[in-house]
Amino acid sequence: MSDNESSHPKNRYSFAGKLRPLAGIGVALGLVVAGYAWAGGFLAPGHLSQTLIVDTFQDINGVHPGFRRNHAKGVCMTGWFDSNGNGSRLSRAQIFQPGRFPVYGRFALAGGMPMATDTPASIRSLAVNFSTPNGEDWRIGTLDLPVFPFQDPQAFAAQLRTTLPDPATGKPDQARIDAFFAGNPASAKAIGIIKSRPFSSGFANASYNGLNAFLAIDDKNVATPVRWSLVAADPFEAETTPPNDPNYLFDTLIARVQEAPVEWRLVLTVGEPEDATDDATIPWPAERTRIDTGTLTVNAIEPEAPGNCRDINFDPLVLPDGIEASDDPLLSARSATYSVSFTRRAGEHKNPSEIELGTTRPAKGP
Ligand code: HEM
Repeated sequence: MSDNESSHPKNRYSFAGKLRPLAGIGVALGLVVAGYAWAGGFLAPGHLSQTLIVDTFQDINGVHPGFRRNHAKGVCMTGWFDSNGNGSRLSRAQIFQPGRFPVYGRFALAGGMPMATDTPASIRSLAVNFSTPNGEDWRIGTLDLPVFPFQDPQAFAAQLRTTLPDPATGKPDQARIDAFFAGNPASAKAIGIIKSRPFSSGFANASYNGLNAFLAIDDKNVATPVRWSLVAADPFEAETTPPNDPNYLFDTLIARVQEAPVEWRLVLTVGEPEDATDDATIPWPAERTRIDTGTLTVNAIEPEAPGNCRDINFDPLVLPDGIEASDDPLLSARSATYSVSFTRRAGEHKNPSEIELGTTRPAKGP
């Protein structure tokens, strides 16, 4: 597997920043700082670009050659998706026709440190590539969060900036972080929703959400807004005291997959006309129709290596016919930013990943 999305026209997007002033004192960051280590604000108005965002990740985390600039610590997985055909009610994509389709993907922690210590509040991600016989790929990136804390790339970048160390103290300035949230009520509200829900104890019993809205397009060209989730089959268990192992989230996942394949249901939540498609900080009402489209099964984990998920860009705009981007401003910004991160790491010497298994150790297959 290799990738050349960095030259894809979709990735030449550049966004100009309308920067919000920071004011007031507010919400404690808690788990979001722990996970993403984001915070900050571009205090001076100016041009915001994908390059500037990736530079900011580097300013915060340092440069770790060969690694993703965000979600740096991860492992690769392979498996399959059993589609039950239900998704074809909304989308003509081949992935929603009944059948079994191969997948590969990546479990990771949000944040730019490839050697980060696993903690109960580490934000976890699952990225998946679905392949279909017609030659199409569908790439999704999901987080174990109920909403995303930022409405647009300007807010994301502003908050990221607040996590940069203050030159006077060598530490992020809490007043700047508080000021960001005071000036960005949508983010403060989203953090409240995030903090009201417990984290699961591991990767395997976490459910993951795509958060951004997309459009499902059926064979009559009717577009329906959807958000997707990967709902864990393993029962939810809240974390208590973490074991004394800096990689315990990954080690537990590897042991779990070795024991038996792990499953998630791929669920589409159907948006109603009043549901925001351009604001991932707002949850859609719980009573919305949810369509269970089939089962994702992960049966092998392997360390990042040439030819597997390491060299893939999980660009959220790699979509099959039958799924289209919504008007969510995060989507084109993500695509553009991932491209810069991908292009930088693709040209760098690769250091071994923190999570090394030595060999691929698949569980029993289908
Ligand atoms: C403006 C907002 C965002 C920015 C700037 C951003 C930035 C990044 C960057 C730079 C990477 C590394 C890409 C690479 O080198 O391949 C990344 C990875 C990732 N992001 Fe985002 N992100 C944003 C929003 C989101 C949202 C809303 C989600 C999910 C709903 C998300 C999910 C992920 C996932 C799952 C990965 C890891 C993919 C992998 O394992 O390769 N991100 N992000």
